[in-house]
Amino acid sequence: MGTYLGLDSSTQSLSALVIDTDTNEVIYEKGVNFGEDLPEFNCPQGFLAHDDDLVRHSDPLMWCAAIDLLFGQMNDEGFDFSQIDCVSGSGQQHGSVYLNKSFLSGQWVNAVTVTDGIKPTLSRRTSPIWMDSSTSIECSEIADAVGGNDVVRTKSGSSAIERFTGPQIRKFYKDSVDEYNNTAVIHLVSSFLASILAGSSVGIDLADGAGMNLLNLETANWDKDLVEATAPGLMEKLPQAVSSDSVVGTVSEYFVKNYGFSPECKINAWSGDNPNSLVGLGASEPGTIVISMGTSDTFMAAFDKPVTDPNGYGHVFFNPADGYMCLICFKNGSLAREIVKDEFDINWEQFDTGSFGTTPAGNDGNMMVPFYFPEITPRTLESRVEFKGDDEFVNRKSFAKAVRAIAEAQLMNMKINSEWTKADLKKIKVTGGASQCNGLCQTIADIFQTPVERFSVANSAGLGASIRAAHADKAGSWSELIEAFFASAENKQFSPDTSTVGVYAEFEKKFAKFLGA
Ligand code: XUL
Repeated sequence: MGTYLGLDSSTQSLSALVIDTDTNEVIYEKGVNFGEDLPEFNCPQGFLAHDDDLVRHSDPLMWCAAIDLLFGQMNDEGFDFSQIDCVSGSGQQHGSVYLNKSFLSGQWVNAVTVTDGIKPTLSRRTSPIWMDSSTSIECSEIADAVGGNDVVRTKSGSSAIERFTGPQIRKFYKDSVDEYNNTAVIHLVSSFLASILAGSSVGIDLADGAGMNLLNLETANWDKDLVEATAPGLMEKLPQAVSSDSVVGTVSEYFVKNYGFSPECKINAWSGDNPNSLVGLGASEPGTIVISMGTSDTFMAAFDKPVTDPNGYGHVFFNPADGYMCLICFKNGSLAREIVKDEFDINWEQFDTGSFGTTPAGNDGNMMVPFYFPEITPRTLESRVEFKGDDEFVNRKSFAKAVRAIAEAQLMNMKINSEWTKADLKKIKVTGGASQCNGLCQTIADIFQTPVERFSVANSAGLGASIRAAHADKAGSWSELIEAFFASAENKQFSPDTSTVGVYAEFEKKFAKFLGA
């Protein structure tokens, strides 16, 4: 039993969440925003301006400064760091930090601030982050070198993807070979910040490591072919790949001295925000699926065997709570739903009750292709919006039919493109802004024929990190911790209507044909 700190270094902020495993409660939360609180780094939305719209880099020193700022504010509020038994954390996935050999000496822990200590250890001044999509050429080069994207996917769980770390490293090697050669170690955002807390260069956890196109899902270690295809000499620059559950060290004397941490406080390997969220939503065991409906929609599920998406849209990572997990992103989420809402000049209340309550499941055969923006799943490079059905629907005269059509199209697309996961469907947890719409929740229950639970956790990545810290410190088994933090939640439930099974089976066939046409 103890007290555990979960930190979440996301694109725009660093936040802290503390849990107490005696009371099973979140006892403290605080965050700093990079744009507002650290304007001197010129990253108002978490990244630096760049002439090329495909390039998105951030400043790793800003992430360092955020630690001192956040911990300092916590100190000022009287937060007692000495009570923390173990710290874990969460980083935006795929972003990378490039460090020279002085980082390995660990001398930087004696500096006055983290930023002062780290600045001379950087071999690359900026860090590419997940929003970067400038590496299409490098993706092709890596895939060609190993025998194609099928091979990359079977080995690493994903096709070669622009934002993934391997293609980013290859681009750095090609563009700046001297700086690349001067790099002693390449960290992810997660392992970089874990290293700072521990005061030495620590391992990359398997879950976040799987977002690099460099880790082999079967051996749970760096894949020689992928590493060699990425850049010469890379194997020596990669930290060890470690289990997400590892304790990688104790907190460095810098944090003991400046903030009053106990020198015995352990550091658990940090992981990516999506793997942490799977834990922080209580979905880390197979059977519970998460559908997050935000700007874009995502589908996450835990499973036991490493299956991969034959079409190459989805990703497979290690699950930080054992086994594997998938992440499938659908770019046309709330922004596309909003376009339909605005087209008919209705509000979200009308979107919900005025539509789902007045149209039947299957929408009397009316359907649409719903890609107002280029889509990730299925890969659709240009927007594609098409309608099929009765005149009233096709001529955009009925908002009720239009709303149901976009919901059924998005969710049927999600069902079709998540079937490869063979996920065990016992329960679906729906989260994110659009989950407030009852009609959408009921449509998910009907299309997937699975009970849906509406679930809201503000900082699932931070909560997941703190639960992981508790697990690494042996405060409970995964099922005990999930039971303790999630069983009592009183969330709204939606039961599948079995009378819709036939309608949706028919709809699925017709929709798949329409989409494929
Ligand atoms: C996942 C991804 C994003 C980032 C956001 O593949 O790129 O979800 O992890 O922080």
